[in-house]
Amino acid sequence: MATIIDGRIVSAAIRESLSREVQTMVSNGLRPPHLVAVLVGNDGGSQTYVGAKEKACHEVGFLGTVIRYPDTVSEAELLAKVDEINQNEQIDGLIVQLPLPRHIDENKVTLAIRPEKDVDGFHDVNMGRLAKGSDGIKPATPYGITLMLKHYGIATEGKHVVVIGRSNIVGRPMSILLSNAGETGNATVTVCHSKTQNLKSFTLQADIVVAALGKPGFLTGDMVKEGCVVIDVGTTRVDDLSKKAGWRLCGDVDFESVSVKASAITPVPGGVGPMTIAGLLVNTLKARKANLAARTA
Ligand code: GUN
Repeated sequence: MATIIDGRIVSAAIRESLSREVQTMVSNGLRPPHLVAVLVGNDGGSQTYVGAKEKACHEVGFLGTVIRYPDTVSEAELLAKVDEINQNEQIDGLIVQLPLPRHIDENKVTLAIRPEKDVDGFHDVNMGRLAKGSDGIKPATPYGITLMLKHYGIATEGKHVVVIGRSNIVGRPMSILLSNAGETGNATVTVCHSKTQNLKSFTLQADIVVAALGKPGFLTGDMVKEGCVVIDVGTTRVDDLSKKAGWRLCGDVDFESVSVKASAITPVPGGVGPMTIAGLLVNTLKARKANLAARTA
């Protein structure tokens, strides 16, 4: 039976250490890190995620503010708010929760955020730095996954990692991080996606599989090799009338059949989800420190 990679435990350990750093900061008379999240519309998933991010900020002693807009907000109004936050020295990090309503250009909004405050790591400048292996803000979910692998002593160097999915938020940056030089990189990475032929022939060769395609239960036991490590990034809501909410979160991995063959596996929920938040908090503290350094230079 596989080891369960518990994102809640790793995230709690990271938050504990962040909390200590913030206490030192505050006892030295400095303002704690401040993250602002912009939420547009009433999407249930987005509301849950933003609520969890706000709560996590407060738990570690950060300032966390949520700015809410109805889904009728114009692109211009949203861009004006981003600009205002960009110029506010009291705010270190800004995230605009995706997806946005169809009449708003997500790319335009993402590019409007100052790269130094882009704690999601979605801006082209941060993606470019990631691709070049230079210092920048790393996308929270892939970064959180590397922190989780490190915590469990799962080495990536020389391993064959198969990433399923090529999204800008997870698959693409994950593949770059793992293939970059460094302690949580140095892997040989194959990126599979919706046009890949005979996907199973790739996953069967993988030492580590990262499933980030958004199809519930896609990866099954017959598709992985004995002893592999499986990271499940899927978070699809599927109807489940036995739950109070009427739905449950479902990963991209068929846990029952894959956990029999894997040496380690992340559950959904309680795996990658908490690590996205941990990655975001680490990024926000980093942005706070950069903000301080820029002001005292
Ligand atoms: N939508 C899905 N995941 C994310 C995320 O990590 N950040 C933001 N801003 N939006 C998302």
